[in-house]
Amino acid sequence: KNMSKKLPKGFLWGGATADFQYEGGFNESGRGLLSHDYETDGSKEHPRHHTMKMPDGSIIEPKSSFILADSVPTEAEPVFLDDEYYPSHNAVDFYHHYKEDIKLMAGMGFNIFRFSVCWSRIFPTGEEAEPNAAGLKFYDDVINEMAKYNMEPLITICHDEMPMNLALKYNGWTSRKVIDAYVKYAKTLFEHFGNRCKYWLTFNEINAVRGFGPTGVRNSEGQDRYQADHNMFVASAKAVKLGHKLIPGSQFGTMFAMSGAYPATCKPEDMFHYLQEKRENWYFIDIMGRGYYPEYAAELLQRHNVKELHMEPEDAQILKEGQLDYIAFSYYRSNTTKAGDDWFNVGGDSNPYLKETPWGWPVDPLGLRYTMNEVYDRIQKPIFIVENGMGAVDKADENDYVEDDYRIDYLKDHLSAMADAINIDHVPCLGYTMWAPIDLVSLSTGEMKKRYGFVYVDMDDKGHGTLKRTPKKSYNWMKHIIETNGSAL
Ligand code: BG6
Repeated sequence: KNMSKKLPKGFLWGGATADFQYEGGFNESGRGLLSHDYETDGSKEHPRHHTMKMPDGSIIEPKSSFILADSVPTEAEPVFLDDEYYPSHNAVDFYHHYKEDIKLMAGMGFNIFRFSVCWSRIFPTGEEAEPNAAGLKFYDDVINEMAKYNMEPLITICHDEMPMNLALKYNGWTSRKVIDAYVKYAKTLFEHFGNRCKYWLTFNEINAVRGFGPTGVRNSEGQDRYQADHNMFVASAKAVKLGHKLIPGSQFGTMFAMSGAYPATCKPEDMFHYLQEKRENWYFIDIMGRGYYPEYAAELLQRHNVKELHMEPEDAQILKEGQLDYIAFSYYRSNTTKAGDDWFNVGGDSNPYLKETPWGWPVDPLGLRYTMNEVYDRIQKPIFIVENGMGAVDKADENDYVEDDYRIDYLKDHLSAMADAINIDHVPCLGYTMWAPIDLVSLSTGEMKKRYGFVYVDMDDKGHGTLKRTPKKSYNWMKHIIETNGSAL
């Protein structure tokens, strides 16, 4: 049956970005260094790595944290090497292009824009007593520019990164000191931007970054990893409680990576493995969405060799009171899993029924509708799709124009599936922010040629180019979808 795709009034349409992939300006306005600043570019074949120096001067290059950090010796210090390219430093320079970019987004009719604040731009080491005024001013300017177009912010407080100092000094989120630093940082954001920002995300893809490099943890074995997670749960809940108090009507989520997984076969062993693998994600959503550790946590922690999580007596109450208001997630793809496979939050085996992008990401729009239903059935709180999109090689003509019909197809199919979940299955959904409206640097590979945008940015994998912005074919297509609030899908 061909149901209408028109979405409810007030549906939030927008795009999503992350500071270290988009913003650049790494040595402007007193910004401190963050964990991704030492990450080189890479590709699907050649994983990104960090550059670090041992006390004897020798260089080690641990593989990118996003993939699975190698163990990094505690005495290793990060170092910049002259012959390496570090994409976060300038990214695609939103720092100097924000007016132009916001105008382009407004031109599509966005009423919301999701961006992350760079923690080390506000607290360069994470430990200053006072925030960096110049850093706050940059985001003031961004939010005020958005207001001209009636575009609301959706602020990610922490997107896979932290001030380098906190990572090195405390072994990142394994220390409760980092909870205090985070809450102080969040409070600063609430006090400065709360009058103009209602929607917040405490963390990005918390279930994917868990205890790996982006959380500042060097030896990401089970024990440290799950301790880091617990500390992040407490930090998030404290921020939610504080945000509710300081900003009347504020709405808090955390973003979960929910790219789907299917059992490879109906063999009971594969089904059971699938259940356990799903729990690798539910663990995060249940604790933060329902406010307590589920019973199955004991088995899961034991399986990951976690002897004991350190919890303070007040933590249970904090988790209960700091529950999320809505469940935000990213959805890009789905994969299959079978007995004996490793535990993955994102990734896994491919699915013989699905086509894949050039980066091997299976394309599965119905999986989005499935996931929206599954999450809502379980947590019974509104959904917010805060990342979805297609990384592809775009061929620009001499005027930098790209005919990206493949991206239009991908988005049309995913948005239609989303509309069906809302209109047919009655899943409440606040909005959709597409990753990423303006081309930016890929997180997993550090490439520029893995493009997502409605707008082409003239820059190559090594950062060369004019940075000129040019709308692609999908730009006008999306504009029309938003104009009709989905009817044109
Ligand atoms: C999500 C992240 O994992 O996926 C983003 O929140 C990221 O930061 C996005 O960019 C797409 O992944 P990639 O590796 O193609 O950039």
